[in-house]
Amino acid sequence: MPVKLDVLAPQLSNGRQQNPFITADMPTGTAYTRSDIPHLAALLRQGEVVAFPTETVYGLGADATNSDAVLRIYETKGRPRFNPLIVHVADLAMAEQLAEFSPLARKLAGFWPGPLTLVLPRKPDAGLSDIATAGLDTVGIRIPNHPLAQELIRAAGRPLAAPSANPSGRLSPTTAAQVLKGFGGRVPVLDGGAADAGVESTILAVTGDTVTQLRAGALPRDAIEALIGRPVAIAEDGGPVTAPGMLASHYAPNARLRIHVEHPEPGEAYLAFGDRPGTLNLSPTGDLREAARNLFAMLHQLDAAAERIAVAPIPDNGLGEAINDRLKRAAAPR
Ligand code: TXA
Ligand code: MG
Repeated sequence: MPVKLDVLAPQLSNGRQQNPFITADMPTGTAYTRSDIPHLAALLRQGEVVAFPTETVYGLGADATNSDAVLRIYETKGRPRFNPLIVHVADLAMAEQLAEFSPLARKLAGFWPGPLTLVLPRKPDAGLSDIATAGLDTVGIRIPNHPLAQELIRAAGRPLAAPSANPSGRLSPTTAAQVLKGFGGRVPVLDGGAADAGVESTILAVTGDTVTQLRAGALPRDAIEALIGRPVAIAEDGGPVTAPGMLASHYAPNARLRIHVEHPEPGEAYLAFGDRPGTLNLSPTGDLREAARNLFAMLHQLDAAAERIAVAPIPDNGLGEAINDRLKRAAAPR
């Protein structure tokens, strides 16, 4: 895929406007079609990102079992924080390998394939990357209702983590051309026509008997309530955990966490970075990708062993910004 544009920098965008440097007649590469699915599936298995159509918006997909592949999503989007990503599967059997389905969750899965994401307890041995789930013990999962999406996932033989296929801060794309333009032709795109919905999936957390809407989306709440015969609670987007059944959207350790620490205090487990000794080290060579890959696993490990954790300063460039964002949230007082 030839690189036609280098001017695309996410920070050029003001959040809602098309990058002014990109005009409709600029060449930005060609999209792939159905017969290219075996090739695209091979790229996904090798850890590359591939954009694909769904009925809501185009997704920027990567193998959800491969942390390096998932990190590439963040690098490609220029997304400065690790949100838990939606994991896309081809069928219910694949979903059941990754998550625990209560009878209520199974009922809600009646909307699949479709624009509904269910946040369910994650099966610990399913091999999901903890970057995909941002260190949570739940997973957001959905079966998209687009034949090419299902075909691509089946061909890859992997669950695909996929946020919308736009650079951070830009509008979610509903056509392959928008994706090509958005990334300046740098990302292979499977063309499946215009997305039907144009808005993202509705996200529901299912905990016990409670169903909580974490994000309004393409599946209306009254349709959900009609199916399950009970009201759906509404969580404030990004708001605090206010009621039982509402989920934290970021990983929070039990231990007290201090960040930007050069010299740990006695009794603190020290999560080091680079050339300094620690209880554990995110990356002795100072490699931010390695640090991102290790972040959640090492925090979990230290949390199980210590009451207090101190984390070394992490540079704020590249993936460091997302690492620092997660650390700041994990360190926030509760
Ligand atoms: O329609 C869609 O849902 C599109 C297409 C591509 O499928 N995807 C999408 O993904 O919108 P994304 O990454 O923009 O949405 C991810 C959001 C997170 O910000 C978070 O709110 C929620 O999904 N989420 C995912 N997993 C979660 C979890 N385990 N716990 C809580 N929230 C979760
Ligand atoms: Mg998005």
